[in-house]
Amino acid sequence: MEKREQLYEGKAKKVFATDDSGLVVVSYKDDATAFNGLKKGTIAGKGAINNRVTNHLMRLLEAQGVPTHFVRELNGRETLVRRVSIVPLEVIVRNIAAGSLSKRLGLPEGAKLSQTVLEFCYKDDALGDPMVNRYHIAAMGWATQEEMDLICRYSLKVNQVLSAYLKDLGIELIDFKLEFGKTAEGAIVLADEISPDTCRFWDSATHEKLDKDRFRRDLGGVEDAYHEILKRLMGE
Ligand code: TMP
Ligand code: ASP
Repeated sequence: MEKREQLYEGKAKKVFATDDSGLVVVSYKDDATAFNGLKKGTIAGKGAINNRVTNHLMRLLEAQGVPTHFVRELNGRETLVRRVSIVPLEVIVRNIAAGSLSKRLGLPEGAKLSQTVLEFCYKDDALGDPMVNRYHIAAMGWATQEEMDLICRYSLKVNQVLSAYLKDLGIELIDFKLEFGKTAEGAIVLADEISPDTCRFWDSATHEKLDKDRFRRDLGGVEDAYHEILKRLMGE
């Protein structure tokens, strides 16, 4: 497998073509942004940590029956994945009120939700990733009803698997964001990343934040939090 030209650069990752048209290389950056790119910074070591944490969790999910784009880790910050067209939605899964949900509905952060909440946002930076519902998604043709049924089923399964796994490591999974892709054959697979950038992880005992909220909210100890997650998941 040979790495070829850069296809895309996002806020946290770059994507490169390979000599196989069905495969691309994802390269994780240390750059961090928040609030739709308004706040910018660097988190030293983040790219390598997010690469390893994502791959670890993707392997776990594959083993539990959730199809993913993961193929193999290439090195510290690069991974080979299946080439997919990204469904232009951020799927947010929430167990505990926090962040924008707390703000929108006036719920204290940390309040347990009586059932899991799924939200969808249309991926469009210029529009600020507006929240949409299944009627908007169908009307705009971003995904079919069948694809959305599958996306919802996979998202809830990811929540079950990860919540149980992280609980044993003393981590509470508050909420997280997923993205899905469609393969050339039309299969829906989990794509993008699952990392402290895209999840809220709280220490079960102390409720200390071990995720990107430390960067978003200037809480300090950002690098330490990312390292702590790597250590709890991978023992280093
Ligand atoms: P929110 O409370 O700001 O809506 O975020 C919910 C979850 O989604 C949280 O775990 C952080 C994650 N997230 C992203 O990964 N990317 C984003 O652009 C946003 C807004 C949230
Ligand atoms: N990464 C997103 C941005 O730069 C938002 C976030 O994670 O808070 O806007």
